[in-house]
Amino acid sequence: MSDATAKTYPPSADMAARAHVDAQTYDKMYQASVTDTDGFWREQAQRIDWIKPFTQVRDVNFDLGSVSINWFADGELNVSANCIDRHLERRGDQTAIIWEPDSPEDDAKHISYRELHSATCRMANVLRDLGVDKGDRVIIYMPMIPEAAYAMLACARIGAIHSIVFAGFSPDALAARVNGCEAKVVITADEAPRGGKATPLKANADKALAQCDASVQCLVVRRTGGDVAWDDARDRDYNALIKDAADTCEPTAVGAEDPLFILYTSGSTGQPKGVVHTTGGYITYAALTHEVTFDYHDGDIYWCTADVGWVTGHSYIVYGPLANGATTLMFEGVPTYPDASRFWQVCEKHKVTQFYTAPTAIRALMGQGKEFVTKSDLSSLRILGTVGEPINPEAWNWYHEVVGHGRCPIVDTWWQTETGGHLMTPLPGAHDMKPGAAMKPFFGIKPVVLDPTSGKEIEGNPAEGVLCIADSWPGQMRTVWGDHERFEKTYFADYPGYYFTGDGCKRDADGDYWITGRVDDVINVSGHRMGTAEVESALVAHDKVAEAAVVGYPHDVKGQGIYCYVTLMSGEEPSDDLRSELRNWVRQEIGPIASPDLIQWAPGLPKTRSGKIMRRILRKIAENDYGALGDTSTLADPTVVDDLIDNRMNR
Ligand code: WT7
Repeated sequence: MSDATAKTYPPSADMAARAHVDAQTYDKMYQASVTDTDGFWREQAQRIDWIKPFTQVRDVNFDLGSVSINWFADGELNVSANCIDRHLERRGDQTAIIWEPDSPEDDAKHISYRELHSATCRMANVLRDLGVDKGDRVIIYMPMIPEAAYAMLACARIGAIHSIVFAGFSPDALAARVNGCEAKVVITADEAPRGGKATPLKANADKALAQCDASVQCLVVRRTGGDVAWDDARDRDYNALIKDAADTCEPTAVGAEDPLFILYTSGSTGQPKGVVHTTGGYITYAALTHEVTFDYHDGDIYWCTADVGWVTGHSYIVYGPLANGATTLMFEGVPTYPDASRFWQVCEKHKVTQFYTAPTAIRALMGQGKEFVTKSDLSSLRILGTVGEPINPEAWNWYHEVVGHGRCPIVDTWWQTETGGHLMTPLPGAHDMKPGAAMKPFFGIKPVVLDPTSGKEIEGNPAEGVLCIADSWPGQMRTVWGDHERFEKTYFADYPGYYFTGDGCKRDADGDYWITGRVDDVINVSGHRMGTAEVESALVAHDKVAEAAVVGYPHDVKGQGIYCYVTLMSGEEPSDDLRSELRNWVRQEIGPIASPDLIQWAPGLPKTRSGKIMRRILRKIAENDYGALGDTSTLADPTVVDDLIDNRMNR
């Protein structure tokens, strides 16, 4: 029901009265942000402490061949000082991070801003001693423990560039990222406990580092105390080193356009790309969106359930909240351990006020029944949020009614790794909510809906097409690490003059936005982005596989599942054993999040006469929608389609 006739939920009078931004304020600020963009951001950037104030607000060019994005370029600052030092005077004893461990039997930790300061300084000094300088790259491959946040902030403190690799990624994926950015140090832990099981992070790092330059050092944090192999030439014991490290460390002044971090993400080719975010614009945007979207006030307890391995963890567990002097909760575990009540028990235990999670988690918990929710006292909750994929109305309604008791607004935040922070969302005290709609652009964001064929802007409402952004905002990615040309080709080539998001979208009769999903070869599995080409490369790397094509299909819990068509080498026999072999192979090559859900043996793939695989057809077959296959007459051999339909996998 993605239109203006959808049920709407206006903001409550209470919410509008206490919110930083009500409807009138939004209208006024949005207008200002798109008419006097420089003036608007000059003022917003004052929420950041600058070591050297900027004089230039922005210098942006979206023209293919000369794309260049700069915000506050002549300013200097330090993100760690903004997230810690400047809060010490007023909030030294306030909790910065609440850490909730995997097991509810273990004690939670409350880390004050003062403690965060000394832990970050110690880690920064340790990194310096390992030879890490301004501009050097550090890989973080960690469990969700406070040391992961210390590591991020320690890098920022000395001007080093971190690149976090999600702990669920395989040794091969880790090695590719260490090599891709030529990291000097990998920070990891002995093991990562999640849901009662421990992932052997150090052992994975050992396997990865065997494929990397011998000069790369490995800094190991003790989490479980489990046994690990040790190479004296390479491995460094964090717990021993911090004891002797000084607990102060002068923050390094870095330029606003110096990189803060690199985060690898899937695209439509086989190689993940290193999304580069810089310093001044990113922190301004992360801080402002965190405060406004979640209507954060002093004394709130804010919880984002993401992992720091994803951009959500960067912007909305660590950087945005800490820049605002907030109390942010960091959770090591999973929603279903020890049982499906864990999220709600943690909300009750720590009196969480804002709760931010992914639709896939909501759907999974919804399937377990509402008793798991209702036994916890959720009266502290004020605002709920979702991110990562479109939320279906059933899940939205359940979240709203069962978790939020009908009184908490839901902010459905649409954004991307590339955007640094929220680009569209309803604001809790300003906007109506429609289940499943991302509703309104954030300040400074000019969304446009383009006709996919002509590339022309569709004016008026309703409208449906591809979603582009007409102008830059401070949190925008600046380049692909080591490959600016790929950056330009991916985001600025298809629709000249615009940033192309890769998403489709509808604007309804009221002018509200609904994201309809990716229009490129990226699929969204449990809110995680996966390039179909990446899974294909992994499959064809197996010696029994001749060819593979991968598409997404609707999946009840994950949103999209991974459907693989596999052509075997001649002489290889299809079997269920081979299916599980291939599944394990992909898990090993990329990580468990890339596990194929369905593998169909395909004697042939539908190709055009020039040899291009017709994915449109494969998608339709996977979706069980082969009444709508469209024109197959351009296929080199139309009969392969019948075979694929006859043998499609049940789902
Ligand atoms: C893609 C970006 C941004 C952090 C998490 C994912 C989809 C994200 C929504 C939403 C509909 C959404 C889009 C986008 N997406 N949020 N609220 N409604 N779709 O970041 O891995 O960079 O993926 O996730 O398709 O392009 P990401």
